[in-house]
Amino acid sequence: IFTHFSLQFYSTWGVVSACPFHCVCRNLSESLSTLCADKGLLFVPPHVDRRTVELRLADNFITEVGGNDFVNMTGLVDLTLSRNTIHLIRPMAFADLESLRSLHLDGNRLTTIGPKDLAGLTNLQHLIVNNNQLVKVSVEAFDDFLLTLEDLDMSYNNLRRVPWESIQNMASLHTLNLDHNLIDHIAEGVFGELYKLARLDMTSNRLRTLPPDPLFARYILRFLFSILLNFGGNPLHCNCELLWLRRLIRGDDMETCATPTHLAGRYFWSIPEEEFTCEPPLITRHTHKLWVLEGQRATLKCRAIGDPEPIVHWVSPDDRIVANSSRTSSFSNGTLDILVTVARDDGAYTCIAINAAGEATATVDLKIIPLPHRGGVSGNTGSTLVRLSIKNMNPVYLQRSLNIYPLH
Ligand SMILES: *[C@@H]1O[C@H](CO)[C@@H](O)[C@H](O)[C@H]1NC(C)=O
Ligand SMILES: *[C@@H]1O[C@H](CO)[C@@H](O)[C@H](O)[C@H]1NC(C)=O
Ligand SMILES: *[C@@H]1O[C@H](CO)[C@@H](O)[C@H](O)[C@H]1NC(C)=O
Ligand SMILES: *[C@@H]1O[C@H](CO)[C@@H](O)[C@H](O)[C@H]1NC(C)=O
Repeated sequence: IFTHFSLQFYSTWGVVSACPFHCVCRNLSESLSTLCADKGLLFVPPHVDRRTVELRLADNFITEVGGNDFVNMTGLVDLTLSRNTIHLIRPMAFADLESLRSLHLDGNRLTTIGPKDLAGLTNLQHLIVNNNQLVKVSVEAFDDFLLTLEDLDMSYNNLRRVPWESIQNMASLHTLNLDHNLIDHIAEGVFGELYKLARLDMTSNRLRTLPPDPLFARYILRFLFSILLNFGGNPLHCNCELLWLRRLIRGDDMETCATPTHLAGRYFWSIPEEEFTCEPPLITRHTHKLWVLEGQRATLKCRAIGDPEPIVHWVSPDDRIVANSSRTSSFSNGTLDILVTVARDDGAYTCIAINAAGEATATVDLKIIPLPHRGGVSGNTGSTLVRLSIKNMNPVYLQRSLNIYPLH
């Protein structure tokens, strides 16, 4: 027992009951610090005083945390586990750490953060998990500290996706570091409600485009809000979708365009606005007429090109946008599948290809050959429907305002 456990007394720092072997424990101004950095530890020492307020375990060889490691440490404020070899956090590992404000897990070997791995940290302000091997972070992982977190560092990992659904609710967030990952998508408007966000680093990811966000409007007045944004080192696709950014910000960092080819390698801020162009959709191929026996499957196709890649919607003969249902699948590549056709599916379908530059439409006639003996099938739903005047609508507005109904 005594090889792992020793009593140490410090007259100048006050009396400390027990301190793990090799560690240094100090009771300064009535708050206990347990300092065990760089001691060759293979696990969290079991005899840490549960009243400790600060626990430093950096630069050891700890491989996992959880179980009883931090049980009953309800007064712990600061926990440092940086530069170990942690690959596993057991669910509820930190569940008792209701006072914890700062958790350092940087420089470890974590690949995932599961839904309950950080549960119970109801006062967490700083979460530092940079330089791990993260590929997945659960959407629920941050649930217990969404409103208290001020500082989130997940840089230098392997993240393709981040849980934007939770990040957008972090009302106190001040600094967000997501640089040096593989992120290829930022959800539209995620930073809109993060009024305290002052530093956002997205350097060296795989972003091809950035959605408009109120954050960038605040950035114009950055001297007022002292906002710092970094988006360099992303393969930006400099088409009309990024024109808003080109107009908005006078850049000081070195963004370059990766595509289209004629803009490749050019400095974003030096390209004239009129060169940020898009190609409106062009429907290159589509089904013209299709005859299907009632009850059979019908596959309608509509192929469109454009820059950015157009999204294809289908409008049914009764002027409703066709959505996915148990009977129908509408794929964004332009394929509409009706698995089991019924008589009322008969009619002219319109495929609409939309992108930021415009739209194109084509008509497909679907003829359902009725089975002779079926009775009681009503021809139409009979409801009055407002005709969509798609031609004159702004495509972005159209995408947002169309109500999507399943085919019945
Ligand atoms: C720290 O010292 C104070 C007296 O200065 C004492 O009351 C307290 O119990 C000590 N805490 C620990 C954990 O030893
Ligand atoms: C934690 O506290 C509970 C209740 O006070 C006690 O029964 C348990 O032994 C403590 N566990 C540890 C590891 O200190
Ligand atoms: C229908 O589901 C497919 C995949 O199952 C998806 O790709 C497509 O976007 C969905 N369509 C609509 C209109 O939601
Ligand atoms: C469109 O996507 C669906 C689902 O991924 C696939 O089954 C279909 O073959 C695709 N159609 C075309 C024309 O590529």
